[in-house]
Amino acid sequence: MSSKPKSNVSAVYPGSFDPITNGHICIVQRAAEVFEEVIVAVLMNVQKKPTFSVEVRLRMAEEALADVKNARVCAFSGLLVNFMHSRNSKVIIRGLRAMSDFEYEFQMALMNRQLAPDIETFFIVTEPQYSYLSSSAVKNVFQFGGDISSMVPECVRNMMRGKLPEYPNKTIENKTKPFE
Ligand code: PNS
Repeated sequence: MSSKPKSNVSAVYPGSFDPITNGHICIVQRAAEVFEEVIVAVLMNVQKKPTFSVEVRLRMAEEALADVKNARVCAFSGLLVNFMHSRNSKVIIRGLRAMSDFEYEFQMALMNRQLAPDIETFFIVTEPQYSYLSSSAVKNVFQFGGDISSMVPECVRNMMRGKLPEYPNKTIENKTKPFE
């Protein structure tokens, strides 16, 4: 990828990032090719209670995006459009995976447009290899001892271990004979 950004527009990529996944990272990398700066905005007061504290989610994102020179990570609370105005940013980036994302994203984009007509939402369609990825699926697989090495970077996996120990005793599984 080229190191030169292609416009002087700053964009905000908001989300819960609980935790950031390779799918999110890919969206940031691609946005960073187009926009001068990409602000990864981590929502503090997520309605669905996050697994990881905002401090941990910020650190995960910072470490995972250390190589993306024009990406910055920060926390926000309250309305996204207010945060956007405070940063003088007019572009919201959202990733789209399957059609199932569309309804929610469409509603959110229209709501933000109603609140702030000066702000535009840009969608980036996921790379197909990440279309199945979600933060909650990654946590679920991890907790049951599954391999998530293709889903999140190592720095994130290490931080996940601090909060979510992997399935504690895999041998229990082997000793159980559910169909006996
Ligand atoms: O990763 P997520 O959980 O899908 O991200 C959702 C997020 C953080 C983008 C959205 O919940 C949000 O913008 N929340 C801030 C509150 C807000 O602005 N609400 C009005 C738009 S629906």
